[in-house]
This record gives sequence, C-alpha cells and structure tokens, in this order.
Amino acid sequence: MIIRPNKGLTFDDVLLTPRRSPVSSRNAVDTASWLTPSIRLHIPVVSANMDTVTEARMAIAMAREGGIGIIHRFMTVEQQVRQVSRVKRAEGFMVERPYAIAPDASLDAAREMMRRYDVGGLVALDADDEFVGLITRRDILLAPDRLRLVNEVMTPRAKLVTARAGVTPAEAQAILYEHRLEKLPVIDAAGKLAGLITAQDVMKPESHPHATKDERGRLRVGAAIGVTAGDRERAGALLEAGADVLVLDIAHGHADHCIDMLQSLRRDYPQAQIVAGNVATRAGARELAEAGAAAIKVGIGPGSICTTRVVTGFGVPQLTAIMDSVDGVRDSGRDIPIVADGGIKTSGDMVKALAAGASTVMIGSLFAGCEESPGSPVIRDGQKFKVVRGMASLGAAIGRREAEALENESAESQEDWDKVVPEGVEAVVPYRGHVREILYQMVGGLRSGLSYGGAFTIPELWENAEFIEITAAGVRESRHHDVQKL
Ligand code: XMP
Repeated sequence: MIIRPNKGLTFDDVLLTPRRSPVSSRNAVDTASWLTPSIRLHIPVVSANMDTVTEARMAIAMAREGGIGIIHRFMTVEQQVRQVSRVKRAEGFMVERPYAIAPDASLDAAREMMRRYDVGGLVALDADDEFVGLITRRDILLAPDRLRLVNEVMTPRAKLVTARAGVTPAEAQAILYEHRLEKLPVIDAAGKLAGLITAQDVMKPESHPHATKDERGRLRVGAAIGVTAGDRERAGALLEAGADVLVLDIAHGHADHCIDMLQSLRRDYPQAQIVAGNVATRAGARELAEAGAAAIKVGIGPGSICTTRVVTGFGVPQLTAIMDSVDGVRDSGRDIPIVADGGIKTSGDMVKALAAGASTVMIGSLFAGCEESPGSPVIRDGQKFKVVRGMASLGAAIGRREAEALENESAESQEDWDKVVPEGVEAVVPYRGHVREILYQMVGGLRSGLSYGGAFTIPELWENAEFIEITAAGVRESRHHDVQKL
C-alpha cells in the first residue's frame, strides 16, 4: 500500500498566473486543436456520448460550430448507424445516396419515411433502380385526399429540372434560383441519379465557415462503442456508415478487456481513428497509447452526474489526472492528444484543462440543457429544465434493460433492478437554448484565457502555463462575492 506524496488537484484548486502577453486582441488567437492526429477541430470542444447529450441533432450543431459530437452507444446498432448517417447527410454540397421510395408506395409510407429520417423529400426509384420522380413534404401536404400513391403525387422525372454530374456549387445555386427550386437531382452521363442538391446545402457553407468536415465536405461525427463481442459488429457498421472516429468508452479503460478490444480493432480496421478511455493515471494513458489509441480520454469520476468516487472510492482529481496522462502519453513515445472528459463547469475550467495539456474537452451536463440535446424540456415552477443522467445511473440502467427486454420480447422484473449498483445520478439542468450560444461564451472565455496566458495557440498555452494552488479563501475570492446577484 502506498500513499502518493503529492496532493491530487482539480480545477477549483488552482488558478493560472497571468503572463506578459504579445496578444493584443482576442481575435488574434487561434482556438484550433486536434481530436486525434488526423481530425482537426476549429474549437477544442466535444459533446459527451451520453443519452441525454449527444444524438444526431447535437452532433450536427457541434460540427457546424467547429467542434464534434460523439453519438452515445445506448441504442441498437441500427439506431446508432442511423444517427451517424443523419449527421453525414446533414451537410455536404450534394447528398450522394438520397433516401428513396418506390413509386407505388403509399403516401403514408412516404410521410413516415420523411418523418423518420427528418428529410423534406424523397427520390422515387423503380424496381430497376431507375430514377422516376421526386416527392416532397409539400407535395404530400397539398395532395387531395383521394390520392394515395407516391406516383400520383410526385413530380415525374420528365418535368424535373436536373443538373449534370460535376455541377459546381455556384452553378447549382444559379439553377435553384432561376427556377425557384428547393431540390435539384443530379444525373450522371449514363442517365442515372448521381445525387440530390438542396437549396439549404448550397447555402450552409457560408453560414458555418469553420464547420468540422471530412474530405468529402460532410460534417464529421464520432460514435461510442463498448467492449462486448457485439461491439465489434457495431464498430464495423459505424465505420461503414461514415463515422469519422470511434470512441471506445468504458468506465475503467485501464483494463485488459479494453486493451484487447483496442488492439483487435486496430488489427481489423487499421485506418480507423479510435479514441480510448477512460483513464486517470500515467500508466493507464501510456498503455492505451501503446495499444494504438488515436487519443486518450481522461476522467474517472469528475463528471457532474458521476458517483464513481463515492461508490467505489476510486478516482483522481481531474487536473492531476490530465497532467499525469500527458506524462503517460509521453512515456509511450507517441504524440497523441488527450481529451479531458468531465467536470467542466465554466470556460475557465476548460482553459485550465487545456493548459494542463489536454487538446480537447468533453462536456456533458453543460450541454444537456440545450435545445439540441435529446428529450424535451420540462416546466417546473414556471422554469424550463432538461433531464441529464449519468450513463451508470439507475435510470439509464433501467432504460437499457427495458429496451433490451423489448427487443428480446422478455420481461424484466423488479428483482433485476434491485441488482443494479449505480455509479451516477439523474438530475435536471436549466434549459439553456441553442448550443452555439453556449459555445460562443465558452470560446470567448478561451480566447481571453489564451491572451492572459501570452499564447496565440493551445500548444503555446501548454508551454507557457503556470498554475498556482489556491486556498478556500482564494476559491471564495474568485467567485462574485459580497454582492446580491441580479
Ligand atoms: P460532465 O461533468 O461534463 O461530465 O457532465 C460528463 C462525463 O461524465 C462521465 N459519465 C459518468 N461517470 N458515472 C460516472 O462515474 C456515470 O453514470 C456517468 N455518466 C457519464 C462521462 O465520462 C461523461 O463524458
């Protein structure tokens, strides 16, 4: 048994000491960073793979702002693949394989498909896969009641304005404008459908100049996986659907089964970017780095909804965990980023996590109150809230068991629930509006933080940072005090 000589520190235990700065304007700094050695982000922020934080809608919003979202894994493989596909289709100048329906399908089927995939139109393909028409939400809305089939309502191919393959965004915009269209099918030299361009897609790059995109212009997205046998199949399906990064995420990532899984995924998918975690020690980070991780996710118990430290007695205060993990990665001889996961309450915490050596921060609860997180707001005493829950909470465990029972058509019993030992809680957080507004404040804080640290970039902050440990009085002095907040 040993007791480490140094205290473990977390964000509130320290401040960064200001330095002489060459930065004359907050706009002069660069907030870009790396999620993995090949995935660059304009802002160093990742939304957490929690079922109350990241599904497609959040991932789309995060990528548009220059960060990235990780789709949680507490759903079937098919559902998770669908979430990834939604993000990959959300942007990009042209959708290469637009959702299709048979011309003799019912309008109800078309309506259901548009609802399920959240799209405003479907291409009609006949039995030979020939493109025969286009049906939009508006067509269905305006159709007289007596009409029942897609081919009675769709615009047939002969009447559609189309573009040739290779059309540029500017040309597509001109055609869409000239004919006042919302959708433009693209036809290749052989007369086959090559894709679909929408007015929205042509306009989006202008409104999101720093969006996180892949080489084909599609938004980037990550997806979480676990370590069971089924997760191998899950990993393959997610990569096939276009996931840019897999996050091998288990509560105690410094474990044989996590390292084995990582090595086997590296063998099966050598090109895949795999972030692995969670760890909180030098040895944990080193071993995951040696096993081939593309980034290390750090954090055992710092999260707002975590009770791991209370239930098990294990954990490392997050600032120390980040610093130790940086050393661990260095020991491995590899140069891969650290994702600081959990416990970020303010932009100041984010700056401290980055200054300690992280390349990105993963955020859960702070984003759970956003419009884009799954679930609807609830009203309590006239105020709007949203629910957040730890993925090891009782509620999440029951949700998973119910879903499994539904899928296997088996009954779950009260007895099963009694066996759950939760390591997280369920809670409510204030409704906070759109995630881009929170990100604006967070990134504004980071920009100022870089300037206080005399750094133009995050790597410069790593070099310049000097922390000072503070007392309880220092913590008190750091918050607003001796005034009544309005
Ligand atoms: P924040 O503080 O941003 O933290 O809400 C999000 C991170 O918390 C972790 N997480 C959990 N940890 N029990 C835990 O001990 C749980 O039930 C749980 N759920 C999430 C996770 O790493 C997440 O990214």
